[in-house]
Amino acid sequence: MLNVSAFDAYYGKSGKLISLKEVDSTNTYAVKHELPPFTCVVAEKQTAGRGRSGRQWHSNTDQNLYFSIVIDGLDASMLLPLNIFAGYLLSDTLKDIVDAKVKWPNDMVVNGKKLAGILMETTFSGGTLEKVVLGIGLNVNCESFDDEIKDIATSLYIETGQKFEREKILASFVLNLENSFEEFRSKRIEVEKLWSTYSAYLDKKISIHKDGVKTIYTEKGIDTTGCLLALDESGSLQTIITGDIGYDFCR
Ligand code: BTN
Repeated sequence: MLNVSAFDAYYGKSGKLISLKEVDSTNTYAVKHELPPFTCVVAEKQTAGRGRSGRQWHSNTDQNLYFSIVIDGLDASMLLPLNIFAGYLLSDTLKDIVDAKVKWPNDMVVNGKKLAGILMETTFSGGTLEKVVLGIGLNVNCESFDDEIKDIATSLYIETGQKFEREKILASFVLNLENSFEEFRSKRIEVEKLWSTYSAYLDKKISIHKDGVKTIYTEKGIDTTGCLLALDESGSLQTIITGDIGYDFCR
């Protein structure tokens, strides 16, 4: 299990980490339980780890990080920007280890392979946003992947040949989020302006997969709400609200 004392030492405070041996999904746990802001739920293994678009998140090794952070006090209009901003923060947290960039909206990629994924889930009361759970799966020390994903996935170990203390990486990310959150929440961080620094595919060809249909575009950035801006093959600029960029142009 992840060591709470080691996390607390890096984090500088105690009481923010719930470390579990196994859970269905850290996101489900964080959604179901009443937890103070910036509480982080981490598990060695998830039996039903979820990815975006209803996909499964492979969570069967105790070498990686599977965690969820509770966020409150956010306006619903900031949900997509937060999805983007979380990718920036993760890339920034890892910058001394690896040059990880963001594939819209928030996959972390290194050399065209996926290092981490983010799944944000929310609870509403009436029409008001109550709680946001930011769930992250980060491949840290695993040496190989299941056949199904081995061609598109990577880990910090695979990229660097080194093993890392997961508690240190986790504490750095939570601190990074906590320290920048107020600036982000009050709209003093303009996510669209940061995109050129963090995007893996700006001005490059991408494919967008939506409802089983694949369309080719050239990536042109994001707008203030976090939607993707991309030129279609006839040269007209499209705003893409949902969908996934495929890994088929990424290497
Ligand atoms: C993606 O599809 O890229 C998002 C993957 C998110 C996986 C993480 S692992 C921790 C948290 N719990 C889950 O069930 N999913 C997220």
